[in-house]
Amino acid sequence: MIKKVAILANGGDVSGFNAVIRAIMKTAMTNGIECYGYIDGYRGLVENNYIRLDGNPLASGIIAKGGSIIGSSTNAIVFHYKVEHEDGSVTYEDLSDQCVRNVKEAGFDCIFTLGGDSTQKSARDLFLKGINVIGVPKTVDNDVACTEITFGYNTAVSVATEAIDRLHTTAETHHRIMVLEVMGRFAGWIALESAISGGADVALIPEIPYDINKAAEAIKKRIARNKKFSLVVVSEGAISKDGENETYAAEGVDAKAGISVKFGGIGPKVAKQLQDLTGLEARCTVLGYMQRGGTPTAYDRVLSTKYGAKAMELAMEEKFGVLTVIQNGKLSSVPLEEVIGNNKEIGAVQGGTVDSNVRLVTLDHELVRTARDIGICLGD
Ligand code: F6P
Repeated sequence: MIKKVAILANGGDVSGFNAVIRAIMKTAMTNGIECYGYIDGYRGLVENNYIRLDGNPLASGIIAKGGSIIGSSTNAIVFHYKVEHEDGSVTYEDLSDQCVRNVKEAGFDCIFTLGGDSTQKSARDLFLKGINVIGVPKTVDNDVACTEITFGYNTAVSVATEAIDRLHTTAETHHRIMVLEVMGRFAGWIALESAISGGADVALIPEIPYDINKAAEAIKKRIARNKKFSLVVVSEGAISKDGENETYAAEGVDAKAGISVKFGGIGPKVAKQLQDLTGLEARCTVLGYMQRGGTPTAYDRVLSTKYGAKAMELAMEEKFGVLTVIQNGKLSSVPLEEVIGNNKEIGAVQGGTVDSNVRLVTLDHELVRTARDIGICLGD
C-alpha cells in the first residue's frame, strides 16, 4: 500500500502542468495518500527540496493556471549535473545516488515525472536504480514516443492557429506573404496541424526536407489565381533539401547536459527567400514561448486530468517504471524502457536530441495526406 508520493515537473513549461499536478493530488487525496511536490523539477530532487501539496493553498484553483506551481528545470540532469564550485569552476557530476538517498529518506513510495523525452530518460535511469517512478508525457512538440498526444500540445496548436488567423488579415489586406515560425525541434506536429486548422498555404516541417522553389511555385500559382497573399507555417527545426537548418549554440550548456543547440532563424530566412522568388512582400512572425504559456485549452485540461488520475491509479496498483499514454485514443501505460528506445545507456545521450526516440511525423500520417489533399504545399 502506497502512502506518500511526490510530483516532479521538469523541462520547458507547458499549459497543463498544473492540471496534471492537481489530478495526481486530488486522486491521492481521494485515497488518503499524502502528496508532495519537488521544487524546480530534478533540481529539487538533487537539493531535497519539496513541499506538501494536499491541503496547501498554493495548490488550490490551479486547473486554468499556466506554468507549474512547483516550478520546473531545463537542463537539470541528475546523471550529469552542473555543479558550480566556490572558485568559479564548473564540473558535471553524477548525483543520482544522492537522489536515490533523498527519495528513500523522505519515504516517497512513488515519484511522478512530468516531462518530455529527456525527463523520461532520467526517470527510466532512476527506476533502474530502484526508485519507483511513473512518467506523464509533456511537451508542446508532441514528440514523446509511444503516445499519440502529450499534454500542452493542444494549447500550442490553438495558440498557433489564432496567430495564423490574425496574420491572415494582414496578409490579405497588404497582399503579403506572412510566415509564422512555430516550435518543433525535430517534429513538425505543431506546424502541420496549425497549418491545417489555420488554412495556411505552405507548411515546412523537419521530417520533409523542403525545396524553397517548390514553396515559391505554390505561392506563384496562387498569385496566378488572383490570390495575392499567402500564409506559410514553418517549424523551427525545418531543414532544406540541402540539409540546412537554422540553429545557434546555447550559451553555457555542456553538450551532454541537455539541449546544447537551440533552433531559431528559419522563419526570417524563408520569408526573405520567398520574397525574392515571388516578388510579393514577405514578413515573418516568430511565435516562440507564447505557445507554451497561459491557460490550457479545455482539451488539455481534460487530457492532463486523465493522465494525472491514471498515473495515481497505476501507483496504487504498484505498476512502476511506466509512462501514461494515449494509444488508439485510449488511456493506457507502457514501460519507460519502450519510450526510451535506442537511447539506452544510463547517463549517455540525453533526450531532446536526434539520438533519442522522439515521435516524428510519418510521411503516410493522415495529417500529411489531409494537408496534401487540400493543396497545402509541404515543400517537396
Ligand atoms: O521541446 C519544447 C521546446 O519548447 C522546443 O520546441 C524549443 O526549441 C525548446 O523547448 C526551447 O526550450 P528552452 O526553454 O530551453 O528555450
